[in-house]
Amino acid sequence: MSNPPFPLLKILFLLTTLFVAVHGNEDGRNIDEKIAALLAKMTVEEKVGQMTQVTIQAVAKTEGTATQAFELDQKKLEEAISRYQVGSLLNVWNVAMTVDEWQDMIKTIHKTTRKKSRLKIPIIYGIDAIHGNNYTRDATIFPQSFGIAATWNLDLARIEGEITALEARASGIPWNFNPVLGLGRNPLWPRFWETFGEDPYVAGMFGAAYVEGMQGHDVSAADKVAGCMKHYIGYSLPLSGKDRTPAWIPERILRDMLLPPFQRAVDAGVKTVMINSGEVNGIPAHADEFLLKTLLREELGFEGFVVTDWEDIERLYTRDKVAGSYKEAVKMAINAGIDMSMVPFNFEFYTHLVELVNEGEVPMERIDDAVSRILRVKYELGLFDDPNPYKKVVEKFGSETSRQAALRAARESMTLLKNADRRLPLAKSSRVLVTGPTANLMSALNGGWTMSWQGNWEELYPKEKHTVLEAIQEKIGSKQVSYVDAAGFQDVKDLQAAVTAAQNVDAIILCLGEPAYCETPGNIGDLDLPAAQIELAQALQATGKPVILVLLEGRPRVIRPIVDQSDAILMAYLPGMEGGIAIADVLFGDYNPGGKLPFTYPRYSNDLTLYDHKFTDVLEGNSFHPQWEFGHGLSYTTYEYGDIIMDRAAITEEQEITIRIPITNTGDRSGRENVLLFIRDKVRSITPPVKQLKRFASLEIQPGESRTVEFTIDSAALSFVGRDNARILEAGEFEIIIGPKTATFSLVKSEDTSEQ
Ligand code: BGC
Repeated sequence: MSNPPFPLLKILFLLTTLFVAVHGNEDGRNIDEKIAALLAKMTVEEKVGQMTQVTIQAVAKTEGTATQAFELDQKKLEEAISRYQVGSLLNVWNVAMTVDEWQDMIKTIHKTTRKKSRLKIPIIYGIDAIHGNNYTRDATIFPQSFGIAATWNLDLARIEGEITALEARASGIPWNFNPVLGLGRNPLWPRFWETFGEDPYVAGMFGAAYVEGMQGHDVSAADKVAGCMKHYIGYSLPLSGKDRTPAWIPERILRDMLLPPFQRAVDAGVKTVMINSGEVNGIPAHADEFLLKTLLREELGFEGFVVTDWEDIERLYTRDKVAGSYKEAVKMAINAGIDMSMVPFNFEFYTHLVELVNEGEVPMERIDDAVSRILRVKYELGLFDDPNPYKKVVEKFGSETSRQAALRAARESMTLLKNADRRLPLAKSSRVLVTGPTANLMSALNGGWTMSWQGNWEELYPKEKHTVLEAIQEKIGSKQVSYVDAAGFQDVKDLQAAVTAAQNVDAIILCLGEPAYCETPGNIGDLDLPAAQIELAQALQATGKPVILVLLEGRPRVIRPIVDQSDAILMAYLPGMEGGIAIADVLFGDYNPGGKLPFTYPRYSNDLTLYDHKFTDVLEGNSFHPQWEFGHGLSYTTYEYGDIIMDRAAITEEQEITIRIPITNTGDRSGRENVLLFIRDKVRSITPPVKQLKRFASLEIQPGESRTVEFTIDSAALSFVGRDNARILEAGEFEIIIGPKTATFSLVKSEDTSEQ
């Protein structure tokens, strides 16, 4: 490039070049070159700072009690930035803040970084926006993930990702610690509801759709954020069912069942990953080089960066006892492949790691690798150009269109488990008694990660949103609705009052379930629904009035004693802020439910056999007898499945088979039918499951209309992890199962199909 002619221009040019060199702006270099140039300027301390993440509480003046307003401690913030060069902050100070409060805080953080750090590397702020951007007031709040999975509608996961990203960016936040890609296979586990249910294919498909919506094609766009798949890997299968307790997972099972959802999210381009806070086979995941390097980077091909979970490096020493000191724990975790430590309260991690690098205990290449990965995501997010492009999106925050999307998701998640004598929908002229501990609580509709970590701070919830009771009152008029607060979650209050009130109504709407909880505080010792709630149900059932049970719960609590005497049962999951309206719509016929369970609903707390069990699970003497099967869900209309039509009877490894099935709505209401395709491998070298879900589709069908669903199955869908822990294919026969219909095809070696 020739020099500009005038001195003034020359100065401007030099200033711009300097600015660009420091900020890595639009200067023609690609991201690799920018990273290399920046890395070359960084001291060990600056590099380690990038790997350090602290919580906002670490730089706050206040403690975070109910009545305190958030106040940044500018001195602490400056210290974190100028002395420790922190690369990341996370979390909400206590409870959800307004967009303006977020913006004040985020702007101060970026301003301080620009002023007080030598290289002005922007901070990346991370948040748990688990079902919408739940730590900003008035955000759009979706059903929790297990409810999203019950819709079987991938568009909804994509839309949830899009809206969550936009509302997080509007709050100044470019990084979301979601989706959860563990599997809900142990219903005791208090994070069950954060999963997409028990099936790996479902979890992978929903996780990938959510990531695509959240990150888009260009994650630097003002309405996109970086995702964080979590918790890699094995966290969701604690033997005891308690949070953060040991898992035993043979490598074959790990690869066959737990890895595929993470692989799909990696293929969808997810930018970051958070590590399992617990241990697998006696090795804490944070210290497991095999998981962090071999499997994650070499095999899955993950190129983003790895963040720890809360305090989990220090815990290798204080809790897990695999390290004799905090410093040893730091060495272990960083050498195993951790890139960023969610410390989160102090700078001990930083001090230890700087020392370890200087002592040669952690190689500089490992540090450079970690820092490059972190810088790459910061560049990709456009943080160097504009760390907070909120002005471009803030107007769309909490829009009516977004609310409608959340309502649609809540409606589509509604799963009708029982409807004896077509008791539902109720006529709008009915007089009803509404009762039960979840009837009048916004927190019971939302669960954890709402307004506060535990989600159980009822006073914080927006007053204009509707509980189940309020939504019913609104729909049929308050005069037709009696409400009695007859029992809490664990305690009976006034059964007689409820029984008396029941005398004057046409139906009882009994809302049972769980209070809001999150992580370890949600541990339970017994899956049975607490006795007080069973007692309330039985007292009401004894009145002879129709009892409609509505379940608001984060995991399938055992309700066997009250199932038979309930006329109808609606599983509502944790449907979010619009959940009250969605429930009322279903109960009174304004919406025809189509949700289907993405997990097996157990009948007994000690019989937790899942849908994809083995044949030995159902030998004589054993049985598979859940309360409701995976995929169960009724409708107000009826569907008839035609015969399965296949375009060929056999495929080779390179071919795929097209499967069509006509479905007719034979009732008198339009409905959304979720169609599940299972495959049964008839014989294989590792005992086959009785069936496994391989495809699904969600479609609207009008009364009298017939629609044909088309699925393609390739050989990958028939593969499994064999005795040598490698994914293999075995020729043989496979049975397709769709609703009541079945068909058989074969997988053959290439040479056998030369005539096809
Ligand atoms: C949870 C993570 C969460 C992190 C940050 C941890 O306790 O296990 O899921 O992302 O906190 O809030």
